[in-house]
Amino acid sequence: MRLDKFIGHSSDLSRSQIHIAIRRGEVLVNGVVAKLPREHIDQQDQVTLQGRLLAAPGKRYLMLHKPSDVLCARTDANQPCVLDLIDSDHKSGLQIVGRLDKDTTGLLLLTDDGQWNHRITSPRHRCSKVYRVTTAEPISEGAVEQLAAGMHLRGDKHPCLPAHLQILDSHTALLDIQEGRYHQVKRLFGALGNRVVTLHRQSIGAIELDPALAPGQWRHLTADEIASV
Ligand code: URA
Repeated sequence: MRLDKFIGHSSDLSRSQIHIAIRRGEVLVNGVVAKLPREHIDQQDQVTLQGRLLAAPGKRYLMLHKPSDVLCARTDANQPCVLDLIDSDHKSGLQIVGRLDKDTTGLLLLTDDGQWNHRITSPRHRCSKVYRVTTAEPISEGAVEQLAAGMHLRGDKHPCLPAHLQILDSHTALLDIQEGRYHQVKRLFGALGNRVVTLHRQSIGAIELDPALAPGQWRHLTADEIASV
């Protein structure tokens, strides 16, 4: 595959931006500055753009900074959906990896790789998801132990897996859970006699929400991020 096509598949740059990046010496192929957009790239070649290793084209893996008031659905007749935020060149066949509620913000992954999606969402794989939570009432010290013991939520067959709570201040905490049950964080805090006011997902496994992404923006994952799952 041509170098410019490879970068087009694996980054968010337009064709002209890719040519500019190559001219500026920002693209390396196996550690050597690339000179020509038509240079041939093989599957095993390592291409870096502005110091970031690009994933070989094939399957697609994206991170989106989900804004509030957007549904985690492909389409909806009346409300904006996360797939509306991805331009049409990149979105066909994408699955949402672990849904967020309409009012939850933060890291959302999308892919067309079903196995990779399963590794993140299946509770068997115990992939951590870290949420920053703000609450209506002060967070009790006892919450740390209750969550660590694995709480049994009303209506669920099995108790939740142990969760790790780090209290940051009276009304703010980081909660690390390894499953993705329906409204899980809100239900856990409800069961603790509290109420979630804002919920923001910061990370999934080793993949952290890129601080350069404003709400509504997305980028391709790097090869390292994909491999980390
Ligand atoms: N838990 C919730 O309650 N809501 C989310 O959006 C994600 C986890």
